[in-house]
Amino acid sequence: MISKLLQNARDYEAQMLEQIPDAERPGFHLTGGCGWINDPNGFSYYKGAYHIFYQYFPYSNSWGSMHWGHAVSEDLLSWKRLPVAMAPDEKYDNFGCFSGSGLELEDGRHMLLYTGVETLEKIPYRKDRIRQTQCLAFGDGENYEKYSGNPVILPENVPGGCMEGDFRDPKIWRDADGIFYAVISAMNHDATCRIVLFQSDNGFDWEYACTLAESTHSLGGMWECPDFFELDGKHVLLVSPMAMMPMGHEFHVGHNTMAIIGEFDKKNRSFRQESMQAIDSGIDFYAPQTMMTPDGRRVMISWMQAWSNSMFVPPGVRFFGQLTLPRELSIRDGRLIQTPVRELLGRRKEKVICKNVQPGSEKTVLAGVSGRMADMTVTVKDYVMLKRLVIRVAADETCHTDIILMPRKHVLRIERDHAGYLYDIVHSREMTVVPRLGVYKLRFILDKYSLEVFVNDGERAGTVTFFTPLDAEGIEFYCDGHTTIDVEKYELS
Ligand code: FRU
Repeated sequence: MISKLLQNARDYEAQMLEQIPDAERPGFHLTGGCGWINDPNGFSYYKGAYHIFYQYFPYSNSWGSMHWGHAVSEDLLSWKRLPVAMAPDEKYDNFGCFSGSGLELEDGRHMLLYTGVETLEKIPYRKDRIRQTQCLAFGDGENYEKYSGNPVILPENVPGGCMEGDFRDPKIWRDADGIFYAVISAMNHDATCRIVLFQSDNGFDWEYACTLAESTHSLGGMWECPDFFELDGKHVLLVSPMAMMPMGHEFHVGHNTMAIIGEFDKKNRSFRQESMQAIDSGIDFYAPQTMMTPDGRRVMISWMQAWSNSMFVPPGVRFFGQLTLPRELSIRDGRLIQTPVRELLGRRKEKVICKNVQPGSEKTVLAGVSGRMADMTVTVKDYVMLKRLVIRVAADETCHTDIILMPRKHVLRIERDHAGYLYDIVHSREMTVVPRLGVYKLRFILDKYSLEVFVNDGERAGTVTFFTPLDAEGIEFYCDGHTTIDVEKYELS
């Protein structure tokens, strides 16, 4: 049975889709049908295809009562839109169907575990009093039915209890032993947060297993959207902390994303942390989620926006929010490494190679190097006398977005304050970079309204979106000091 709320959302989206031409959208980054999207949800492989859902409010460009939008893909790059999967149509999720995850069951059903948010009390001029619980839905890849016994995990099930309004974002998986596991964020009464592990034999009856990690006041308050998985012999916990104090160049003030790498002793239920790093050091990246592909790759996708900037949507925009390019994860020298999924190589065409370029202090352009859908690698081979190398993309007389390498400071800066945004929001970020194998290697993935930069084969990543008019297609180089670079550039189809 499809509820009225769900049918309304499906009808509204279908009507809007007719009005928004595909050419208005990015080439290979997923957007919502219309209106607002945030976190990716339910990223999973089901019946031979990749499924992704996302936090969705189709009716406006700002966050509202959360639905789950849905799309499917065979190659993680071309997404086919499917009808809206869930609406906030039950008492226990009448405030919204918040983030969650998905899994294929042996009996052929697609299982979703998500956070139902219920309004307990409306208080005039104040935020509603809400309660968050974990809920199930089952479907066939297109239509989903919520479980009649919902909710299945309650704030009271966390030992010592937690804030009933901050218990969310379950990430589910099933281990080889057949047991279901889910990591969930639970805010403590002192405004710190625990990432709790729950387990279940049947997917319906859950019990608390252990606490994997805990935020302290210096590492932010709530840690949203946890994910936990094995990678290259280690275990990795991903979280998106809110309200963090800055820590050097690694974490900026406010919302961050963080990977904690360590050893998980499953028998004794303890996660020993070894290192901690930012997942993406750009401007627009939050709430990543991973899945395992059938060929054994751990792939991560994320919301390509940030809460602090998302309240400022340029006029005329008909869909707001995108998901990042899916990225393959690995561990190298104790660090989380991310590279665009290898499927992207199949989209490359029109190869241009420029060797031993020495950009000057005035604008340097290279024949064949321009465009808004591109995969470009710049290898900086000589940087002893280099103060600043500016690589300018999406550029014309008025607009541009800059990536600035300052080797003497070991800094890479992203700057988009001339990108066409008319708002005084966060427009720049810096990250620490060091040469690897004697060079700085910067890979740029441009897709109309976004740039994802990968440093030294995925050692660091920085993501930024912009609303620059599409005819600003220039790619330019400027050098303060002296350098020699190689540029390899492809158009992406
Ligand atoms: C993270 C988040 C989640 C929540 C969802 C609501 O961006 O705040 O914690 O489930 O968004 O849309």
